[in-house]
Amino acid sequence: MPVHKNRETSFDKMSVSDLELRGKKVLLRCDFNVPLDRAAGTITDAGRIAAALPTIRYLLSNGAAVIACSHLGRPSPGEKPDGNRNREFSLEVVGKSLSELLGLPVKMSRDVAGEDSRRLAKALRPGEIMLLENLRFEPGEEANDPEFARALASLADFFVEDAFGCVHRAHASIEGISRFLLSAAGLLLEKELKYIGGALTEPKPPLVAILGGSKVSDKIGVIDNLLEKANALIIGGGMAYTFIKARGGKIGASLCEDDKLDAARDMLVKAQRLGVKLWLPVDSLAAARPDGGLEPVVVNSYDIPDGMMGLDIGPRAANEFVSVIKDAGTVVWNGPMGVFELPEYSNGTRMIAGAITDPYIVSIVGGGDSAAAIRQFGLERRVTHVSTGGGATLEFLEGRKLPGVACLPDRPRRDIQGAVSL
Ligand code: 3PG
Repeated sequence: MPVHKNRETSFDKMSVSDLELRGKKVLLRCDFNVPLDRAAGTITDAGRIAAALPTIRYLLSNGAAVIACSHLGRPSPGEKPDGNRNREFSLEVVGKSLSELLGLPVKMSRDVAGEDSRRLAKALRPGEIMLLENLRFEPGEEANDPEFARALASLADFFVEDAFGCVHRAHASIEGISRFLLSAAGLLLEKELKYIGGALTEPKPPLVAILGGSKVSDKIGVIDNLLEKANALIIGGGMAYTFIKARGGKIGASLCEDDKLDAARDMLVKAQRLGVKLWLPVDSLAAARPDGGLEPVVVNSYDIPDGMMGLDIGPRAANEFVSVIKDAGTVVWNGPMGVFELPEYSNGTRMIAGAITDPYIVSIVGGGDSAAAIRQFGLERRVTHVSTGGGATLEFLEGRKLPGVACLPDRPRRDIQGAVSL
């Protein structure tokens, strides 16, 4: 067994580079849960497929055959494509895109771990790749059924976990499978853990966390954990108004989760106790409706007129946030500052996106909307890392245990003679 080549990863789990791959079949869990234009039957953003390519190429060029698998969307478990029913959840469209991006044929299986998959897997040669149908067509996937995990495992010699976006799910192809096959992390998973984990455990100081988006309830755990790690915390987007109300501000018709006011107060107190400066937008761009077409007005975020709602941070807030970011060594950003999809409310998010591209800053962008924003502004290549995860990134930032990572075995250790033991 060769010693792993990548010593930069900050976690100690078995890596794909620890595996002797020649002539082996590898079950590769990817996150091909991509956004679709359902009417046209096309993929609107193939970023997650492109992100899986380095591991796939590594496996193929090292003499393995790849059995790729993923879920797509949330079909009711057990509902398989039947005529035109549920066809929108078939991975066929992903197989086509993967084949185009790889420049290789991808053999598409008609089932998940049934007769067709077994036949294709058996005939698969080194350097070839096949794709299983949507894992969630099988009820055993989400139920983490050991029998289903065993059936998946029977297709391959090794399991490689590369679906960072799914490691917060204890499903059969993510967690259960590791009980049946020697398992290792893929290159994408390693990269995500290295960048996001590194930003939290050994950031280039000071660490500035920026959180936005509409719902406080999604991010309380993240705020709680980041307050213990960051030097400053910036909160924008719809969720800021719950904090502003918790501070006694008058927020008009802005988004507010009243049942989270106490949690917001607790976070404000915690920030003060830990000496972490917590920034909220002093001003906002507001209008009577969130759907565009109205002239936005700049308002004091603590005195928003009745019937008006904050839809973006205002110009003073944006400048304040940018100057906090300028002093950062590391920035972790999750969630937009406003309704950035509408040009009139995109300025705050655009200014944050621009500020974090400073080449002296280690910039980590969480998945979901902030990743979409950074792409919309054409700045993706100018940040250090854009995560492919949505919920998984949030759970990682919350400091929660990720079942798809916890289940992987530890890296091989070298003994005194230099031999590697597993
Ligand atoms: C995601 O899109 O966040 C992952 O693919 C997980 O999907 P899920 O939330 O449907 O489990």
